[in-house]
Amino acid sequence: MQRYQLSPSILAADFNRLGEQIRKIEQAGCQWLHIDVMDGTFVPSISFGMPLIKSIREESTLYFDVHLMIQDPERYIQRFKECGADMLTIHAEACSDLAFTLGVIHGKGMQTGVAINPSTPVNVLERVLDKVDMVLIMSVNPGFGGQKYIPETARKLQEMRRMLDATGNSEVLIQVDGGINEKTVDEVLEAGANIIVAGSAVFGGDIEKNIRMFQDHIDPYNSRDDR
Ligand code: DX5
Ligand code: ZN
Repeated sequence: MQRYQLSPSILAADFNRLGEQIRKIEQAGCQWLHIDVMDGTFVPSISFGMPLIKSIREESTLYFDVHLMIQDPERYIQRFKECGADMLTIHAEACSDLAFTLGVIHGKGMQTGVAINPSTPVNVLERVLDKVDMVLIMSVNPGFGGQKYIPETARKLQEMRRMLDATGNSEVLIQVDGGINEKTVDEVLEAGANIIVAGSAVFGGDIEKNIRMFQDHIDPYNSRDDR
């Protein structure tokens, strides 16, 4: 799988036509799908959970990148495995034993991600870098789609990239999530992000056209091998 990817967030999809919209994403050449699970406790809102993931898994071969915005995610790892998640991203702020929980996720055969909120410094991730496949630098406060990108994110992405390189973990992917659109995508790619999450900028308007726009920005990075 290529290192730079668009991961469309279905939070912004039309749920009345979800299957059809996921097929469009697949046909447009995407390989990842970002699935935002919210519990109403870690974040104010509630989105959807296992039954929805299980149902779309039956129709899709996309890589399911499941972003758990839930308190104490260790309670649900087995159940997300059963409904078809490929990667579970948990929040550093929501998990009391991060290293242990990441070990459990790997033990169940899924890949691991750790997310941090805009106000959380990247150094909280330092001690778990050898246990993660991806880090997620939030570029908005989690909980809702359609928010404005926080410009400070670029500096955090650069800092994260430097920390991964300095600790011998350069292969760990960096994901960015929130407010990414035609105007902000170049800045985050240049700062070191690999996996670009986008909700409203993919599902608002013509999905195929929006995906082509993102791919035009992302693809050149797959052709480079300087990072
Ligand atoms: C926000 C979610 C995001 C959201 C992004 O809490 O984690 O994945 O869907 O939506 P946009 O791209 O609209 O900011
Ligand atoms: Zn997300």
